[in-house]
Amino acid sequence: MDTQPPSRIDDLSETELTAKLDPDLLPKHVAIIMDGNGRWAEARSLPRIAGHREGIKSVRDMISLCLELGIQALTIYAFSQENWNRPTTEIDGLMGLLEHYLSTERNKLIEQGVRFRTIGRTEALPSSALQWVRAAERETARMEKLQLTVALSYGGRAEIVDAVRGLVRDAQEGKLQPEDIDEPQIQQYLYTRSLPDPDLLIRTSGETRISNFLLWQLAYTELYFTPTLWPDFRRRELLLALLEYQGRERRFGRVFSSLSS
Ligand code: IPE
Ligand code: IPE
Ligand code: MG
Repeated sequence: MDTQPPSRIDDLSETELTAKLDPDLLPKHVAIIMDGNGRWAEARSLPRIAGHREGIKSVRDMISLCLELGIQALTIYAFSQENWNRPTTEIDGLMGLLEHYLSTERNKLIEQGVRFRTIGRTEALPSSALQWVRAAERETARMEKLQLTVALSYGGRAEIVDAVRGLVRDAQEGKLQPEDIDEPQIQQYLYTRSLPDPDLLIRTSGETRISNFLLWQLAYTELYFTPTLWPDFRRRELLLALLEYQGRERRFGRVFSSLSS
């Protein structure tokens, strides 16, 4: 009898992994904490910025695979509010990379049908980086295939503070009564108002924390932590994360039987 041993997932090719995905069970929105660039560079005796530069290749891979699979929203954590506490040389390097990426790749984003948007207190960015950000947001505004949201100068608590400020302002102007405030209403005041909550959150580099990312939105998101460093997280690694996601049972506080009835 011709019995083949079941193939280990690690031995499967990208095509085989893709074939194992259920197209009806793909997440609509994937969020990623892209961590481990510094360690990737240090392991090669390179400056940290070399890790950030290499990490851009992983971003390209995520965008192209999401487009191929029809995942509609991808949100990536590129720079946190707390990252302003890093050495100026690293911050300057990161802002330079952001400018370089947007200036060289916005046409590609347009060709691919990617809408680029940012969340966070982006007004804190250096003005030249901010100009590139605003230009890319403007020029991709009509793109519909993939909503790419880049969290820049982003903090989850700051987002909630900004939402509360907006709510109080509208209440003072009489546009809103305290009784009107419910969860969907609060959601309308978040930076992510136009996006569904993430279905899947990926964090690379082995850290198992949220680091102030999307605190409100992650309430029922499936969390996936991997030791892979961000510059090594490529198409294959995203496919593995998606396969694991598809094996999860999302209960949203219910019992399983009521989900299927
Ligand atoms: C993530 O990589 C990128 C940013 C936070 C900008 P890190 O720079 O945090 O890399 P590690 O965690 O030091 O390895
Ligand atoms: C989180 O990574 C922020 C980004 C990936 C942009 P950090 O490296 O800044 O997080 P901590 O310091 O390990 O929590
Ligand atoms: Mg880090």
